[in-house]
Amino acid sequence: MKIVPCTVIVGAFWGDEGKGKIISYLALKDKLDFCVRTGSVNAAHTVWKNGQKFALHMVPAAFLNEKTRLLIAAGANVQIPRLLEEVELTKVEGRLGVDQNASVIEEKHAFQDKTSAVNRGIGTTGWGVGPALEERVRRTAKLAKEFPELQPFITDSVSEINDGLDAGKKVLLEGTQGFMLSLYFGTYPYVTGRDTGASAIASEAGVGPTRIDEVLIVYKSFITRVGAGPLPGEITKEEALKRGWFETAAGTGRDRRSAPFDFDLARKVAKINGATQAAVTKLDSMFPACRGARTMDALPKDGIGFIKRVETRTGVPVVLVGTGPDALDVIDLRD
Ligand code: IMP
Ligand code: MG
Repeated sequence: MKIVPCTVIVGAFWGDEGKGKIISYLALKDKLDFCVRTGSVNAAHTVWKNGQKFALHMVPAAFLNEKTRLLIAAGANVQIPRLLEEVELTKVEGRLGVDQNASVIEEKHAFQDKTSAVNRGIGTTGWGVGPALEERVRRTAKLAKEFPELQPFITDSVSEINDGLDAGKKVLLEGTQGFMLSLYFGTYPYVTGRDTGASAIASEAGVGPTRIDEVLIVYKSFITRVGAGPLPGEITKEEALKRGWFETAAGTGRDRRSAPFDFDLARKVAKINGATQAAVTKLDSMFPACRGARTMDALPKDGIGFIKRVETRTGVPVVLVGTGPDALDVIDLRD
């Protein structure tokens, strides 16, 4: 297998594409040295380990690999109680680092998020990420290094990552949410408080654009969205239930709205993110006979047809296909 030192994982649409699952597969298969989480607590990444489900809001999804160093990026926002809870749950205390300059979400931010007139109608997750980012822009936010409870984790992750790349280590930059929730490129004003694109993920982690080897864009076989805002081709909840596409949010428990895969949008977002590789998740929700398949030969014709269509319509090779919730329910086409 090709050694790929630095990969950015980016969600294609409105989040919940299954990035957590793809990252957990890569953590196990590619023996990642570093996994760097960007963004914040509003995004939940679902990871399954021995039948146990983890909805991770703060700890990087590659925790499944016990040798991977887990980092929280300088551009990220830390919700301390949730982080400490997850550290205990995942038992990653000895290998988690929080960048000294990450900013911190305080209780008042969640309160402001839930009550603020600005956010009314957008349907934010209510974690306080937007108000915390506002404070950072005003330069009144507190940084991770100022909090005694974070002292055991505080590090200069930017040096760790860049020195690691110099030494040929494998680094995965874990994007959160999806490109259509980007503050700049998404369905404004129904977006999150930051750019969620591949360049922004690298920027939050402190990695220059020339150091990125692959941009892996994650598509789900159908589209979902939580919160308000446009969703082209949206179907009703009844229809979603019938098709097996109905989901609830891993983070907030809200119903996810759904729509069929949009090939034109998929092509556009691949281009803007400079995607070099694609993953397609939940193929088994589209075509139940694909469930648990780990080779292309095990797929029914319509499953193969869908993957081929994604490749031709986006121009990006599909390298990973998700066929079930387990980290290893993946068809790996990288060789
Ligand atoms: P905020 O990020 O909490 O400010 O919410 C802004 C919008 O982004 C709302 O529509 C949320 O539902 C949506 N959103 C934020 N994070 C995620 C995520 O991880 N997955 C899906 N939607 C998200
Ligand atoms: Mg999610």
